[in-house]
Amino acid sequence: MKENGFFITTPIYYVNDKPHIGHAYATLVADVVARAHRASGEAVYFLTGTDEHGAKVARSAESAGKHPQEFCDEIAGLFQDAWKSIGISHNRFIRTTESDHIETVQSCLKKLKENGALYEGEYEGLYCTGCESFIQEKDLIEGKCPHHNKEPELLKEKNWFFRLTAYIPRVEQAILENRIVVAPDHFRNEVLALLKQDLEDFSVTRAGVSWGIPLPWDESQTIYVWVDALINYLSATGWGNTHAHPDAPSWPADVHVVGKDILKFHAVYWPALLMALGLEPPRGVTIHGFFTVDGQKMSKTLGNVISPHDLVNEYGADSSRYLLLTQFPFGQDGDIAFAKFKEKYNADLANGIGNLVQRVSTLVENFGLQREVVPIVDEGFVTSIREQMKGFSIFEAVDEVMKKVRESDGALAMSQPWKKDATIESDRNEVQQILQDASNSIVTIASAFEPIMPIISSEILKRFVGGNITIGVALFPRK
Ligand code: MSP
Repeated sequence: MKENGFFITTPIYYVNDKPHIGHAYATLVADVVARAHRASGEAVYFLTGTDEHGAKVARSAESAGKHPQEFCDEIAGLFQDAWKSIGISHNRFIRTTESDHIETVQSCLKKLKENGALYEGEYEGLYCTGCESFIQEKDLIEGKCPHHNKEPELLKEKNWFFRLTAYIPRVEQAILENRIVVAPDHFRNEVLALLKQDLEDFSVTRAGVSWGIPLPWDESQTIYVWVDALINYLSATGWGNTHAHPDAPSWPADVHVVGKDILKFHAVYWPALLMALGLEPPRGVTIHGFFTVDGQKMSKTLGNVISPHDLVNEYGADSSRYLLLTQFPFGQDGDIAFAKFKEKYNADLANGIGNLVQRVSTLVENFGLQREVVPIVDEGFVTSIREQMKGFSIFEAVDEVMKKVRESDGALAMSQPWKKDATIESDRNEVQQILQDASNSIVTIASAFEPIMPIISSEILKRFVGGNITIGVALFPRK
């Protein structure tokens, strides 16, 4: 981490479509890591946003019968609403149509040209607009892009090219020396293997795409949407633009959180572009897997797209965060079954934490022990959970906290304090000790869960702090 704080980013999302829980997953992971750093007292800058240029977005706007900017404003607004509804704590929501970003992108291209990293050339190749990238013949399945199930278009253009190949050995070295930490390990290996393949220089401008940032020295070309998008991470620092950013983070970013689909852009293209600009590469690229819904890729045609709002309406913000983050370990692929959310919600939240809090609060009140039981947080436990979260082991961290919930439940089931008699002193003393232990666990659990369920955590702490344990409304109403 840098001296002036921890700088973490999510991918910026295409505004060709509404936010879904795939986007939410990536953003939530980054949010938990950001919150875990903040909870340890560190300064954090957390950046997210939207990717608004390029042919894909322009076409979506056209089919919606809207001007691209109007269309972008609308969808970017939906992402902002979605992030608000699931409690994302970003410092900035950047949009690639904002003027500071446009200025930084143009400064970057000028600098790349000055540094001799660009050359003019003609390119003929297959382009998939879904991926917003060229695709090789060998990667097609039955003539179609495997990700978008669409035939690519043949493009022949005069473009400006970036000398990627000249930087490959340096990128490889940086990854091998962990100056760029690519994690988890299986993705690091994937990138290292990729670097051994025949990677080609790529075009950083487009001749036929008008919805993009103009190339400063040749306005007939716009800047390739992926180059435009990657530079957002730098725009936020204020590099190459004249806008005042009083709280801007300094470069490099500590970690870019991305899905495995965009690994190459972040672990190869982006470090190479930065090196060509004379800047440091990012310190880390952390990659997560993809999930399917009910065994299938989310798609409008299948009608299995789940939006963050669907989830929040059903379960509330904190429970939605918990449910999305506990489906499978970070870095792996997984399947999400909407129907199973209910089972997990009831088991872990309503009957787990919710029930424990309710039971202990009721007993404290029934025995009149509000003044005697003053809960103490196990700071050692909380710190170790936070460290796990900072290392992206969110799934494992949750598992450990849930173990504490079960242990605490088990201890209550064994000692059965509800069978004791409040009027007998020895019974009262025994119950006081049992409830002291249980309350210690509850405040520890609540503190440990703060990065995942911030609202619930603060509600529990409010009810249990200062010798004033109160029974409140159910934290997790049973479904
Ligand atoms: N705009 C580019 C990123 C530019 S970053 C400089 C882009 N956008 S995207 O909207 O298509 O997807 C962004 C990210 O959403 C993916 O990398 C991934 O993190 C996340 N996901 C999209 N669908 C997902 C799943 N089904 N499962 C998990 N994450 C998913 O690519």
